[in-house]
Amino acid sequence: MSFIQARGEAGAVADAVVFEDVVKAYGKFHALDGLAFRVREGEMYGLLGPNGAGKTTAIRILAGLQRATSGRVEVLGRKPSDPEVRPLVGYMPQETALYLDLTVRENLDLFGSLYGMSREARAKRIDDLLEFVELTRWADELITKLSGGMKHRASLAAALLPKPRLLVLDEPTVGVDPELRAGFWQRFERMGREGTTILLTTHYMDEARRCARVGLMRRGRLLAEGSPAEIMAAAGVDNLEDAFLRLAGRGAEA
Ligand SMILES: Nc1ncnc2c1ncn2[C@@H]1O[C@H](COP(=O)(O)OP(=O)(O)OP(=O)(O)O)[C@@H](O)[C@H]1O
Ligand SMILES: [Mg+2]
Repeated sequence: MSFIQARGEAGAVADAVVFEDVVKAYGKFHALDGLAFRVREGEMYGLLGPNGAGKTTAIRILAGLQRATSGRVEVLGRKPSDPEVRPLVGYMPQETALYLDLTVRENLDLFGSLYGMSREARAKRIDDLLEFVELTRWADELITKLSGGMKHRASLAAALLPKPRLLVLDEPTVGVDPELRAGFWQRFERMGREGTTILLTTHYMDEARRCARVGLMRRGRLLAEGSPAEIMAAAGVDNLEDAFLRLAGRGAEA
C-alpha cells in the first residue's frame, strides 16, 4: 500500500473536512472501513475510486444524510448534523434529488428557503443561476419534463444557491454536455480562487488533474493521497489514468 502524506503548508490552514478512522457498516459489510482524509479550507480535493469504493457513502455522511458507525467526522469544525453548518455547505447528490411535481424555479425557491435565504435574495440568485446552468427557458417547467443532463444542471444550481463556504459535488458533470461541462469547471475554478472549499468525486481523470489533491479510495479506505503529480510519481507512471489503475484498479493489491 502506498500512502502519500499530505504536505503541511507553512502556517497550517484550518481543515474544512475531517474524516478520521470512519467506519460505515451495513451488517457485516463495511462500506467505509477506516476512511481517513482531510480537506483544507480553500482547497479543491477530488475523491476517486472504482464503483462501490465508498465515495458517495462518505459524501452522504458529511452532508448529514447518514451517520458513520464509528470514527470522527467534522465539517467546518462541527459535526455534520449541526444545524449551524448546513447553510454553509452546498451539496449536489449523485442521484438528482429534486421534487418532480414542482417546476425548476419552485424547486430552487424551496431549496433557497431551506437554506434560510430571504425571498429577495432567492429571486435574484435563482435568476443568475438559471442563466448559468442554461435553464432560464425551462424555469417554469416541471422537473419531469427535463432531460437527465438538465436535471443535473438544476441540481447544481440548487447546490450553488447559498454561495456555500464548502461545496460538495458527487460526480457533478455526469451526463452534462462538453460545452456546459467546461462552463461548470470555469465556475468551480473561479469559486476555488475566491476561497470556496470544493470536495468532489469524479471518474474523469481530466477533472481529477484540476484538483490540488486527490484521494484514491478502494473498499472503503484511502490507498493514496497527494497532488496529481505526487500520485503519478508514487505509481511510477506519467499519467493519472495509469496511476489510478495501478493504485486503485481491480488488479491492484488491496
Ligand atoms: N444502504 C445500503 N445498504 C447496503 N450496502 C450499501 C448501501 N449503500 C451503499 N452500500 C454499499 O456500499 C458500497 C459503497 O457504495 P458507494 O455508493 O459509496 O460507492 P461509490 O464509490 O460512490 O460508487 P460509484 O462510483 O458507483 O458512485 C457499495 O458496495 C454499496 O453496494
Ligand atoms: Mg457514488
